[in-house]
Amino acid sequence: MTASSADQRRHAPAAERNAAPILAVLQRTLPATGTVLEIASGTGQHAAFFAPRLASRRWQPTEPDPELRRSIAAWSATAATDTLLPVIDLDAGAPLWPVETAPPPEPICAIVAINMIHIAPWAACLGLLAGAGRILPPRGVLYLYGPFSRDGRHTAPSNAAFDSGLRRRDAAWGIRDVGAVAHAAAAVGLAPHDDIAMPANNLSLIFRRS
Ligand SMILES: C[S@@+](CC[C@H](N)C(=O)[O-])C[C@H]1O[C@@H](n2cnc3c(N)ncnc32)[C@H](O)[C@@H]1O
Repeated sequence: MTASSADQRRHAPAAERNAAPILAVLQRTLPATGTVLEIASGTGQHAAFFAPRLASRRWQPTEPDPELRRSIAAWSATAATDTLLPVIDLDAGAPLWPVETAPPPEPICAIVAINMIHIAPWAACLGLLAGAGRILPPRGVLYLYGPFSRDGRHTAPSNAAFDSGLRRRDAAWGIRDVGAVAHAAAAVGLAPHDDIAMPANNLSLIFRRS
């Protein structure tokens, strides 16, 4: 991620590339109203892009990194919508999320986590699923995007190389397996709903609260 000296907005090329394909899936997947809770908002590019295009919902960005929260606030200031809520500090691994003690004005209908669970320890993925299990209402949606393996096998050589690079950076990181995520999701009451191939060997994995 890079930042220009003129403002606090950081730029992630991947977020720019994947925004439109992800939006197309969100438009047909998210409940029509309510608050969408974005976990790991990163630079804030996605929040600023999605919120005005999904404007029958509120968009709640969250991010544990304070520098990135400044970038999210700067991107939010550029978004022409009043549906984008101020960013909040949220670590998916925490046993209680701030939105549980101070819920947004409109109930949370969906949780979105893009390119997070492979760049965090498995415990963060379990924390994300546990939070979704606690917070989502019946038929609420959990949307995950990123590279995944299937049955323990990478789906492309580029994903295998990416996974090795991640594990060299941090042994607790790595591409997650669809089956392992689905198994952990089932344990908190989240059932697989859809599984969509995305550009560059990524997947959209969609779960619903039963
Ligand atoms: C590769 S970035 C993706 C950011 C953004 N979603 C995107 O697609 O551009 C990974 C993000 O995961 C966040 N992250 C890592 N561990 C986390 C955790 N335990 N809870 C919430 N976010 C976390 C990082 O701070 C970072 O913003």
